[in-house]
Amino acid sequence: MTGGQQVTYRKATLKDLDALMDLWDGLMEYHLDFFPEIYQFRKGHEKKQQKWFSKNIRSKNSFVMLAEVGDTAVGFVMLFVEKFMPSIYIWKKSAVLSDLFVCEGYRGTGVAKKLYKSARAFAKRKGADFLQLRADSKNLRANKFYDKMGTFDYMITKMERLK
Ligand SMILES: CC(C)(COP(=O)(O)OP(=O)(O)OC[C@H]1O[C@@H](n2cnc3c(N)ncnc32)[C@H](O)[C@@H]1OP(=O)(O)O)[C@@H](O)C(=O)NCCC(=O)NCCS
Repeated sequence: MTGGQQVTYRKATLKDLDALMDLWDGLMEYHLDFFPEIYQFRKGHEKKQQKWFSKNIRSKNSFVMLAEVGDTAVGFVMLFVEKFMPSIYIWKKSAVLSDLFVCEGYRGTGVAKKLYKSARAFAKRKGADFLQLRADSKNLRANKFYDKMGTFDYMITKMERLK
């Protein structure tokens, strides 16, 4: 229960594409403040993002889950399992948590934790050796959250603008 409201969780279907796109907009809007020079999108990018959601919803190696209050989506997670790269390592599979978002009013209530743990359980079932993700360095809340879930910093991405 979150503030008296029951939050339910289920795997996303192709009927949820609009809801997922709304949540994804929220995720991008949230990130704009961190690095406005990077979060710039091509015209028509929404179509590509929607296709990417569809592909993951259909794939047996992907996990897309929604958190809902009644009929309203209040959060989602997306993760996919792929070959561990580069293949010189002993590890075989890596699970990439590509997106996690919870609407503002539902943060700090355990919804993100539930979504993360469900995605992690899927990754384990699929035999992944590691779960990996990328978080903006300025997104302190997300970084703190992920470390609480058990992640550690491995590689740091450095960027220099050339144009
Ligand atoms: C980053 C984000 C997913 C983290 O979510 P969150 O709201 O902090 O996570 P949770 O709701 O699971 O919160 C865990 C906290 O709630 C507490 N909590 C409260 N009630 C709880 C309950 N019933 N069950 C579990 N935890 C509960 C936990 O103790 C923990 O608190 P603490 O960290 O202050 O000790 C969320 O802030 C978000 O969507 N941000 C915007 C998008 C974003 O940055 N996404 C990540 C992109 S990389």
